[in-house]
Amino acid sequence: MADTKLFDVIVIGGGPGGYIAAIRAAQLGFNVACIDEWKNDKGGPAPGGTCTNVGCIPSKALLQSSEHYDQANHHFADHGIAVKGLEIDVAKMLARKDTVVKQNNDGILYLFKKNKITFFHGRGSFVKAVDGGYEIKVAGATEESLAGKHVIVATGSSARALPGVPFDEESVLSNDGALRVAAVPKKLGLIGSGVIGLEMGSVWRRLGSEVTILEGLPTFLGAVDEQVSKEAFKAFTKQGLKIELGVKVGEIKAGKKGVSVAYVDAKGEAKELAVDKLIVSIGRVPNTIGLNAEAVGLKLDERGAIVVDGDCKTSLPNVWAIGDVVRGPMLAHKAEEEGVAVAERIAGQHGHVNFNTIPWVIYTNPEIAWVGQTEQQLKAAGRAYKAGSFPFLANGRARALGDTTGFVKFLADAATDEILGVHIVGPLASELIAEAVVAMEFKASAEDIARICHAHPSLSEATKEAALAVDKRTLNF
Ligand code: FAD
Ligand code: NAI
Repeated sequence: MADTKLFDVIVIGGGPGGYIAAIRAAQLGFNVACIDEWKNDKGGPAPGGTCTNVGCIPSKALLQSSEHYDQANHHFADHGIAVKGLEIDVAKMLARKDTVVKQNNDGILYLFKKNKITFFHGRGSFVKAVDGGYEIKVAGATEESLAGKHVIVATGSSARALPGVPFDEESVLSNDGALRVAAVPKKLGLIGSGVIGLEMGSVWRRLGSEVTILEGLPTFLGAVDEQVSKEAFKAFTKQGLKIELGVKVGEIKAGKKGVSVAYVDAKGEAKELAVDKLIVSIGRVPNTIGLNAEAVGLKLDERGAIVVDGDCKTSLPNVWAIGDVVRGPMLAHKAEEEGVAVAERIAGQHGHVNFNTIPWVIYTNPEIAWVGQTEQQLKAAGRAYKAGSFPFLANGRARALGDTTGFVKFLADAATDEILGVHIVGPLASELIAEAVVAMEFKASAEDIARICHAHPSLSEATKEAALAVDKRTLNF
């Protein structure tokens, strides 16, 4: 092994949490190392983590391709555009997705260089605490020894398998296999109607699969505002996604010819689902195996997540943990915000993450996006609130787009009018939610949004109108 290399900050994990933390730490003048073990198809480095390689980016690439296909298949005719001989070339669609992923991998490698961050390709693990810091081993093509005063653990998460049903990525697929299906399966099953279930189910449904989603809970998207989840359920069902709620999944038999899933439905009836491929999307588990956390006594919780306080401090001095490997929502932008805040705290600044204003987006059609409290949360907390909503059906731009499903909904404090939550189901909800996040971050009232000039015709006018609706004075509805 070569001599130990010394750094101010060592980041283990190069996903959105880790690489952003490394960049911010480098901007603040630290000598930074970032270690990531992800390999591309040629065995080379592929920084960017789950998000870039098998998460946010490739899923959005496939959602876009499949949406184009769906539009050409079902909606172009409304515009007077006739399409004959429409075909999907799955291999080309996947190759395009891979190119998009590679552009992001390369972009991160470029950013490492630009910010003078030393990148190590391999697995990072704790060796021991040393005088004034920690020794970290990198096991890659070669073995390296590093020592750093501060360590930021950003090792992310992996798909959770059903007990006794390992992912073979041929017939039983995690998010990884779900993004590599080589031909449109005739019948596709999914376990879990959460974010991945809905996004990946939508991709393959649009391309022609008969999709059935089996969900354990009796309610659909329980964390989402009820009015939104009802509207979304209606839209997805109309599109042909078959979603069975309140099921109990039993034995799963996977073979070369397909997968059979025995389950008991909500009425207690024993059933069987036979599919060509099964995607299991029942949540994710933190990645701490291989980190050798026990060598330094780094505390994990019962789920295997690294225990941190509100500032991402772990049980050890100068060891921090961020992103999917700690508590909180498993979202790329949450990981990034924590990464920036931790780098700033290391520099003695007051890094800050506002957990109340982290937006959520589900990139289906209609898109679902929200920030802040849901109506059911406010009711449970006994908070007095006012609600106002505005349907896209009454928005000129939405009509011109031919996409009028859904609405924008505002929840504001009954006395102060402060915005407590904004919930959107409909076109470009992913982009529209940003205005609500800014408003909430600045503690705006619904009246503030209602009085701001919004361009016409734009979908954002529905946001203004929903804010007006809080005071029962919509102009266009
Ligand atoms: P990760 O991105 O998981 O990165 C961790 C990195 O650390 C990985 O490269 C891993 O290989 C590496 N690593 C682990 N252990 C070691 C070790 N010991 N040594 C060296 N390297 C190690 N979130 C969104 O906000 N928007 C979305 O649209 C979205 N879509 C998603 C779609 C799918 C299909 C999936 C699965 C997830 C999606 N997510 C999305 C969630 C998002 O991907 C995660 O929240 C995000 O990647 C977490 O970032 P992270 O940096 O904590 O971890
Ligand atoms: P999820 O937590 O969103 O959904 C899992 C679903 O599976 C839940 O509805 C749960 O009730 C159900 N479930 C759990 N066990 C089950 C069982 N045994 N039988 C039947 N149903 C069961 O998890 P998912 O979809 O795997 O995604 C993981 C995480 O990745 C998300 O929570 C999110 O943090 C992130 N993600 C974010 C995206 C985005 O921001 N657009 C897109 C995709 C993933």
